[in-house]
Amino acid sequence: MARNASARSWRAWRKGSGRLSFSRMMTRLKFLGMFCLMLMGLHYLTLLYLNQGLRIIHNDSFTHVLHLNIRDKQISDTNGINHTPTYWTPFHRYMEKIKHCKKCPRVHKWEPYFAAYTEQLSRFRGRKVVMMEVGVQSGGSMMMWRSFFGCRFEYYGIDINPQAQQFASEWATIFIGDQGNPEFWKDIKKKVPVIDIFLDDGGHNMSQQFTTFEAMFPHVKSRGGVYVCEDLSTSYSANFLGQPLSNGTVQEYGRTGGKTFVELSKKMIDWLNCYFVSGDVMAASASCPPIFDGLPAVSEFKQFGYSLHFYSQIIFIQKERVIPPFHYMAGGYSFPYGYSTTVWDGNRYDAPAEAIIDI
Ligand SMILES: *[C@@H]1O[C@H](CO)[C@@H](O)[C@H](O)[C@H]1NC(C)=O
Ligand SMILES: *[C@@H]1O[C@H](CO)[C@@H](O)[C@H](O)[C@H]1NC(C)=O
Ligand SMILES: *[C@@H]1O[C@H](CO)[C@@H](O)[C@H](O)[C@H]1NC(C)=O
Repeated sequence: MARNASARSWRAWRKGSGRLSFSRMMTRLKFLGMFCLMLMGLHYLTLLYLNQGLRIIHNDSFTHVLHLNIRDKQISDTNGINHTPTYWTPFHRYMEKIKHCKKCPRVHKWEPYFAAYTEQLSRFRGRKVVMMEVGVQSGGSMMMWRSFFGCRFEYYGIDINPQAQQFASEWATIFIGDQGNPEFWKDIKKKVPVIDIFLDDGGHNMSQQFTTFEAMFPHVKSRGGVYVCEDLSTSYSANFLGQPLSNGTVQEYGRTGGKTFVELSKKMIDWLNCYFVSGDVMAASASCPPIFDGLPAVSEFKQFGYSLHFYSQIIFIQKERVIPPFHYMAGGYSFPYGYSTTVWDGNRYDAPAEAIIDI
């Protein structure tokens, strides 16, 4: 009986005939409710599917990467030898999906980059993001990036091979030119918006990497943008105008000579600490001393060179306002630093409840 009644009112509702009685309204609500539940279920399943065993939880201060069941899944390298990945990321998922697809554009990367990309670039996912990549090659990485960043992704690709032009699309603009030529970059900067993520995966010789950094580091968004240079192994290869660390001893690692991108990034560590290089650990200088020399991009680094993230062969230089550091203190009760004979007054002091940040 009840089922018939509800089927009847469903038909009536579909036809749009009859006045809206209370019971019809309830039936409508039931259907709507079921529909919403179904949508929520689908949404949840999609999320599960997209993450495929990996969940990244953003938290005010932490990014938790949770590895679920596929933590130990093995992947094979270019020689068919199996390896355990650094850890599973959405990039691995993409790679495995296209692995046996003969007509898919090829992606060729060192495996540790995927964990590094995930850690450094996840905050851009799903947002409107402008990326510029030097080295379009066969159009493989641009597809991977779009799959990672989502449909609001905007891509600007640079390549020396005119064939790369064919990968232009609604979301991808391709420029053909030589990244080692400063004039080329002058022209590019007039044509593209400010960049969120710049990735140098081009010719990899030192002169190309330096010219590109000089020209484009200032064109990366000063608040929150990131400049990435990969395949830094070329800093050690004479074929790429780098210098091998011939015997790999500690002395050699400590050297400062050599105009290679790795040596430049070692210098950046001093730049990050520039307010303290005078030696007084408790008093930051009012301004950075003239340890910044050489590149025009350096004055940009002085203002916006916020943090460096090194991984094997890849560096992420994150931009954010750099301010002269200042002491920041709260609360009044304290021991002197280090060993002290000061006697505590016997009470225990806690922060007040309203100061506890509940997450
Ligand atoms: C946020 O980070 C804290 C500290 O690690 C952790 O205790 C808390 O569970 C995290 N919150 C979520 C939602 O993961
Ligand atoms: C390095 O790059 C520059 C600029 O693209 C190029 O002219 C030069 O031939 C390259 N040198 C080597 C050794 O690859
Ligand atoms: C390695 O290089 C350093 C610095 O040039 C040199 O002092 C050292 O003797 C070398 N070690 C070996 C084992 O060749």
